[in-house]
Amino acid sequence: MNKARFIQNRKGGPPIAALTAYDYTTARLLDEAGIEILLVGDSLGMVVLGYPDTTHVTMEHMCHHLEAVARGAKEALIVGDLPIHSYETASDAVINSQKLVDAGAQAVKLEGGLNQIEKVTAIIEQGIPVMGHLGMLPQSIKEEKGYKKKGKTEQEIDQLMQGALALQESGVFSLVLESVLPHAARLITEKIRIPTIGIGCGENTCDGEIAVISDVVGSYPWFVPPFAKPKADLASVITRATKEYLKDLGK
Ligand code: KIV
Repeated sequence: MNKARFIQNRKGGPPIAALTAYDYTTARLLDEAGIEILLVGDSLGMVVLGYPDTTHVTMEHMCHHLEAVARGAKEALIVGDLPIHSYETASDAVINSQKLVDAGAQAVKLEGGLNQIEKVTAIIEQGIPVMGHLGMLPQSIKEEKGYKKKGKTEQEIDQLMQGALALQESGVFSLVLESVLPHAARLITEKIRIPTIGIGCGENTCDGEIAVISDVVGSYPWFVPPFAKPKADLASVITRATKEYLKDLGK
């Protein structure tokens, strides 16, 4: 069974564990530790490339990092983000999804709901599995003027639900919900047949969870989202090790 279908069939089962990865070493470590989905997310623009947000990420960046992750991961499903401006038309969406697949992705992710159905359908028709992404959409940060929680009003919940149902009908195998208020995330999870994978949606509201790897290992101390649950403080470890190295050199 292909890996995306396997994830789709996990609806309602044990929680799906997903993390982002952007390089060979991290991908190999996470894969060997048992992470089931490795997302080469466009968050790499911020936590790897040092841009202020994800709107600077290009197809070249994505393919470069996907190739490294694909060399490191053997078991996990590798999902590649379609970066901003790479899926403005259905034809662009198909061409660029194929490029991500050629670089090592086994599925692609794009942001948006009702406005993206034509593109999602076109990609799936080419045999490439698609993961949806609703809620707070980082590629729209400029239009939205900041990162905002979603699902605050009945109207917003309805809009999210319509998007989730339309993505499901178009054939996405799973759906990321980002920064959706817990009761809204739970409602969507209960209503749709495909797994939801939450980030910043509270505890036990989705079928799985995804996190940005630097938030888990504490390697990007300059911005830590309020919902992050750091399990390590890699930034301090690196600083301490560097200081010891300097000391050994008499600095
Ligand atoms: O780019 C990314 O890391 C993402 C996750 C936040 C889901 O899209």
